[in-house]
Amino acid sequence: MRTKYTISLVFIVALVIIEKENNIISRVSDKLTPKQTPQTPLDPSNSASDPFLGQLKLNGSFLGPLDPAFNLMKRRLENYTENSPGNRKHILLLATTRTGSSFVGEFFNQQGDNMFYLFEPLWHIEKSLTLATGGTNATTAARAYQEVLQGLLLCDFTPLESFIDPPPVDHVTTALFRRESSSSLCEESVCSPFVKKVFERYRCRTRRCGPLNLTMASESCLQKEHRAIKSVRVRQLETLRPLVEDPRLDVKFIQLVRDPRAVLASRMVAFHAKYKTWKQWAVDGEVPIDDDEVRKLKGNCDNIRMSAEVGLSQPAWLRHRYMLVRYEDIARFPMRKAAEMYKFTGIPFTPQVKDWILRNTQASNEASGVYSTQKNSSEQVEKWRFSIPYKLAEVVQRVCGPTLKLFGYRFVNSEAMLTDKSISLIEEKIFVQDFS
Ligand SMILES: *[C@@H]1O[C@H](CO)[C@@H](O)[C@H](O)[C@H]1NC(C)=O
Ligand SMILES: *[C@@H]1O[C@H](CO)[C@@H](O)[C@H](O)[C@H]1NC(C)=O
Ligand SMILES: *[C@@H]1O[C@H](CO)[C@@H](O)[C@H](O)[C@H]1NC(C)=O
Ligand SMILES: *[C@@H]1O[C@H](CO)[C@@H](O)[C@H](O)[C@H]1NC(C)=O
Ligand SMILES: *[C@@H]1O[C@H](CO)[C@@H](O)[C@H](O)[C@H]1NC(C)=O
Repeated sequence: MRTKYTISLVFIVALVIIEKENNIISRVSDKLTPKQTPQTPLDPSNSASDPFLGQLKLNGSFLGPLDPAFNLMKRRLENYTENSPGNRKHILLLATTRTGSSFVGEFFNQQGDNMFYLFEPLWHIEKSLTLATGGTNATTAARAYQEVLQGLLLCDFTPLESFIDPPPVDHVTTALFRRESSSSLCEESVCSPFVKKVFERYRCRTRRCGPLNLTMASESCLQKEHRAIKSVRVRQLETLRPLVEDPRLDVKFIQLVRDPRAVLASRMVAFHAKYKTWKQWAVDGEVPIDDDEVRKLKGNCDNIRMSAEVGLSQPAWLRHRYMLVRYEDIARFPMRKAAEMYKFTGIPFTPQVKDWILRNTQASNEASGVYSTQKNSSEQVEKWRFSIPYKLAEVVQRVCGPTLKLFGYRFVNSEAMLTDKSISLIEEKIFVQDFS
């Protein structure tokens, strides 16, 4: 009797630890079943043949039927195993505008048949929650973003549907933002067979597809092994913690950042109307100390920095789940950085992705030749230095100082230094490599 209790106690303690360590089960089982094909999600019948899980799945009768605590634990563990993501990875590429996120998103969009990729689905949420003031209530938006992302990573479009305008009819919509940017949404399997001519705001370009049937999209999503979403709208990484705690998900965050001075220079060109004030200041050479636009810039920088600080500090809940990538490093070493990102996510880096990178960058010359491509690319990356007046760069440095410092962007102290090509403003910096 005594030994029986000791054994069950040891088991219960072990189970408690296992439950707390999200994903240990799936990781251990990954290791124990290396022959499992990547397409096969871990299902309970598979795990029954697994020596480790098989043992845990015993109904405990060998410990005696009078051990309710053990049985409860066992049931919860089974529950957990059944809902576990297995090899499936859920990637969130988090960025802000003008940081190259569409480009980096392509690294995942091009992965191939195993990937369900969505481009900026939160656009609908931000649009529908925008207040008369032009902003959104950060708390409300953060909760909506979290719920919609959680749904989408599980292939559930319902939370998103309520934000699409006009609302989908029978789960069919012509208005999903930039549908054509997700190759998963323009695949044969997601195309309605009979195409009636209707106006589609966002339609597939690669083939003739009817309006998007979200039920079909969801079914296609469920067939894919991995899922990735890119977004420029999440403000604080911490608000997505519930996704990490969802045992059905195995989330990996990639935060993409860029020199805030370059971002401002780029936005002044891309979002002409929104940045009128800045353009005026560029002409005047004067920037008010206390201004809404400056405060907004500071707010953006602070959000990015705070998210990165959370990620880089490697809290337990983010273990092996966070990677920081600088735009400047991707621009200079696209292939190397893409390979690192894939290594981090635990997804195979496919020839399709490599081809795409080769076709769309100068990566083939990376680290070779007399004419260093790196030098050339560095020049491209630092072009912004000639399009922003020193005065504005100075303002960014003043309000975004800690952000620049954290990411390794060198400060300039004069117009001459800003435009001195021989001085790179990018410090070589290696961020924590949190690969599992
Ligand atoms: C588990 O319980 C069932 C029914 O209670 C029994 O038939 C089975 O043999 C048990 N399995 C083990 C491995 O003890
Ligand atoms: C198993 O999961 C279901 C649904 O999530 C839940 O209602 C139930 O309480 C869980 N069972 C145990 C033993 O945790
Ligand atoms: C945002 O919304 C929440 C709940 O809806 C409310 O309590 C809060 O006061 C709002 N914040 C602002 C700044 O309006
Ligand atoms: C959308 O697709 C689902 C699943 O294929 C199908 O049952 C449904 O009828 C389609 N909806 C419309 C409006 O065509
Ligand atoms: C850098 O690369 C660009 C694009 O390939 C090319 O047009 C440019 O001449 C190169 N500059 C130098 C200095 O080699």
